[in-house]
Amino acid sequence: MDKLWTELAAAQQATPSLRALFAQNPDRFAEFSAGLDDLLLDYSKTGLTETTRALLLQLAEATEVAQKRDAMFAGEKINTTENRAVLHTALRNIANTPVYVDGADVMPEVNKTFDALFKFAQAVRAGEITAADGGAFSDVINIGIGGSDLGPAMVTGALAPYHDGPRVHFVSNVDGAHLADTIRPLDPARTLIIVASKTFTTIETMTNAHSARQWIVEALGEQAVARHFAAVSTALDKGAVFGILPERTFGFWDWVGGRYSIWSAIGLPVMLAIGPENFREFLTGAHEMDQHFRTAPFANNLPVLLALTGIWHRNICGHAARAVLPYDQRLARFPAYLQQLDMESNGKRVRKDGSAVTQATGPLVWGEPGTNGQHAFYQLLHQGTAVIPCEFLIAAQGHEPAMREHHNLLIANCLAQTRALMLGRTLEEAHGNPHRVFPGNRPSVTIAYNKLTPRTLGRLIALYEHRVFVEAAIWGINAFDQWGVELGKELATGLLPIVASGRPDQSADSSTAGLVLHLTKKDTA
Ligand code: F6P
Repeated sequence: MDKLWTELAAAQQATPSLRALFAQNPDRFAEFSAGLDDLLLDYSKTGLTETTRALLLQLAEATEVAQKRDAMFAGEKINTTENRAVLHTALRNIANTPVYVDGADVMPEVNKTFDALFKFAQAVRAGEITAADGGAFSDVINIGIGGSDLGPAMVTGALAPYHDGPRVHFVSNVDGAHLADTIRPLDPARTLIIVASKTFTTIETMTNAHSARQWIVEALGEQAVARHFAAVSTALDKGAVFGILPERTFGFWDWVGGRYSIWSAIGLPVMLAIGPENFREFLTGAHEMDQHFRTAPFANNLPVLLALTGIWHRNICGHAARAVLPYDQRLARFPAYLQQLDMESNGKRVRKDGSAVTQATGPLVWGEPGTNGQHAFYQLLHQGTAVIPCEFLIAAQGHEPAMREHHNLLIANCLAQTRALMLGRTLEEAHGNPHRVFPGNRPSVTIAYNKLTPRTLGRLIALYEHRVFVEAAIWGINAFDQWGVELGKELATGLLPIVASGRPDQSADSSTAGLVLHLTKKDTA
């Protein structure tokens, strides 16, 4: 395997510029793109050549990506540090084939939970499950954080054209501003609150949930809690303590990671907004990508190819970041969603066996929708000293046919950016003005699809999930734990009484003690 890494590094040194690659091969686009129906992955504007692609495919083989993939789908406990299976794919297994964990088929329980969720969502949407006063709910607040927020928040935003249910709001931050600003315009009598937490212990979510409970109780009385709250958790008993009825408490399982939980009961706010049928379409899209990932030869396999561009840029070219740039305003939260998916999964420094990794692992993932970003940070992408590979996402059609001109502009801008990054502008082309020189040779991939439908979104998310999986498999790390978030949580718990009292003890370092004193001064304006 070391030999493959060495060969890749040597081949990279000999790789012609992107300008040259396109000049040499008029069929480069056709040869360096792949698709699944209308979903197209164009990676021709990366430096991959036939040679380096072949070497990367060998690397995927040598690191047993296919075997690891099959182990995941088969329900093996591949999350070894938590001794858990990884089966978010079972949640969208609309083919309903059996999926075994510890010898038991999980599908009957999955189907039962979806039946209950869809029934609940439909009844709320139809005004059959009502608020305490018998009227319909007009608004829903989802209280959750991380995977219990980013997935439903991103998907709800992305599928706005499909909304025909109650308005859905999201509160995640423990900063009281988030809850306060969300509830200010809302009527408690018309509001349903979902407390979404895999563990039902996350301090931010529990704090927000208790304050929201108080808001309902103050306005409507204690007895209204049962009518105005629902819960989503793997810890079903904990919802009852909060006063949430068992029939409004929806479970999922420890084999669903938080950042992979949008397909589970965590998707309830989405089901309320767009309805069960559209949610099923969303699951179908993801299932189609699962099938593609399982069966397509690696040379045409979208998640594998996207992962190989990631490995190429991170490990062979040494680029520490990647930008996700959706030319699709409704995907505004997609970069934030991918940040958790990718960085919480692959921000690791030891392999599964505990030994230190010798390759760089997950890059910094960030981004904003285009065209907005063009007028903000693209300057650095084009002329900064760091090379940041970019991932562009673009639909052939918007949901606003009457605004086709807008969409043509969007497409033209997206393609112009990929072309400008690739071609650059030489000193000669810049008439000798160094300030107007663009180095070019800056890589990008473009993911294009017909329209941002529930099905397309399902495919897109699953594409990125499996990309993260393949990269982790090549690095030999566990993409499914997140021990790196623990230390900060422990220290915050220890600091809370100190902040509350305003009196740091001897154990605090001078910076922390000084900041506590500064921030808790009674006269802080
Ligand atoms: O702190 C990280 C994390 O555990 C994420 O992995 C998770 O999505 C988030 O917190 C929220 O956790 P929970 O759903 O248990 O409240």
